[in-house]
Amino acid sequence: MTINTEFQAWRVQENDGAYVGGEMTLNTADLPEGDVLIRVSHSSLNYKDALSASGNKGVTRVFPHTPGIDAAGEVVESANATLPAGQAVIVTGYDLGMNTDGGFGEYIRVPASWCIPMPSGWNARTAMIYGTAGLTAGLCVQKLLTMGAKPEQGKVAVTGASGAVGSVAVELLSKLGFDVVAISGKASHAESLKALGASEVVGREALAEDKKPLAKPVYANAVDTVGGAPLAELLKQVQHSGSVSCCGLVAGPALQTTVLPFILRGVNLLGVDSVEIPLEAKAAVWEKFASDWACEKTEASAKDIGRAELDRALKAFLKGESSGKIVLDHTL
Ligand SMILES: NC(=O)c1ccc[n+]([C@@H]2O[C@H](COP(=O)([O-])OP(=O)(O)OC[C@H]3O[C@@H](n4cnc5c(N)ncnc54)[C@H](OP(=O)(O)O)[C@@H]3O)[C@@H](O)[C@H]2O)c1
Repeated sequence: MTINTEFQAWRVQENDGAYVGGEMTLNTADLPEGDVLIRVSHSSLNYKDALSASGNKGVTRVFPHTPGIDAAGEVVESANATLPAGQAVIVTGYDLGMNTDGGFGEYIRVPASWCIPMPSGWNARTAMIYGTAGLTAGLCVQKLLTMGAKPEQGKVAVTGASGAVGSVAVELLSKLGFDVVAISGKASHAESLKALGASEVVGREALAEDKKPLAKPVYANAVDTVGGAPLAELLKQVQHSGSVSCCGLVAGPALQTTVLPFILRGVNLLGVDSVEIPLEAKAAVWEKFASDWACEKTEASAKDIGRAELDRALKAFLKGESSGKIVLDHTL
């Protein structure tokens, strides 16, 4: 039996080139085809959602559209025996919220191959405190560890430290015993970054553009969430054999560098994608966050908002003013 249910969604419409988001009533019959219908209780806010909501065609080609690259909730209808009705699930990435209606609606319909059963002891809100941003921070740290990063090698830099990815990276690295230097443009967040575990907080000027091809090596390893010119500078400041996990582009997608950090210092630039990787790779990181990687401070400080606050919160991302983890609670 197919369930036809009306539901609320924060949907973006295109009006003469302007993109405006707001509350709309939809029906589950309007959702795309898929194996699993999920009642979404929580979503998470990401920079990519802000791009989608602002009409960025690299993220979302066709409007009207419901953003939300993350969703957590309960299966209500399923054509897949391994995901029966009542199963709590997490869905992040793949096409969710890009060109498939996403977690800013109370229901989604997706392929079973996108769904991860909720780790035991977790609920939808906890999962969405981490969301794609947390998953990405976990993958960045995991990649550094795979390359042999160890606390005794020296300082680890995190750029965009007050952001959704950066803040989880700061707490996780600190929890794993690393000496974390948070690089942030928000002086007002110095104390909260120290509370997350940063031993030092420095301003973005630490990565100001410089013509020299190499600089004094300061960091053993790094997590970079901003890309662009700051990443080019960061590469010059990494010690011999160090690694930089690179996942973001808020400072720009272009990377103008020389080969010198790579061929004279053996620096490794590690690409991190949390969207298209196999489901098992995502599940492994979720299980870590639900056990020994739990970021208690991030969990305690997450902010909950309702759909009515989405517009303001998404615009803050585009201005670089967002901080920490924001959860969308469909009951608010
Ligand atoms: N590869 C993947 O799979 C993946 C997954 C998730 C996210 N991402 C990407 O990762 C990046 C961060 O995402 P997020 O959700 O953490 O975003 P966010 O919450 O907006 O955080 C980005 C942070 O970067 C800093 N920043 C902003 N504008 C900047 C600029 N012009 N120059 C230097 N720093 C700037 C700010 O932190 P401070 O004020 O502290 O400096 C800001 O809070 C985005 O580009 C996003 O698309 C990639």
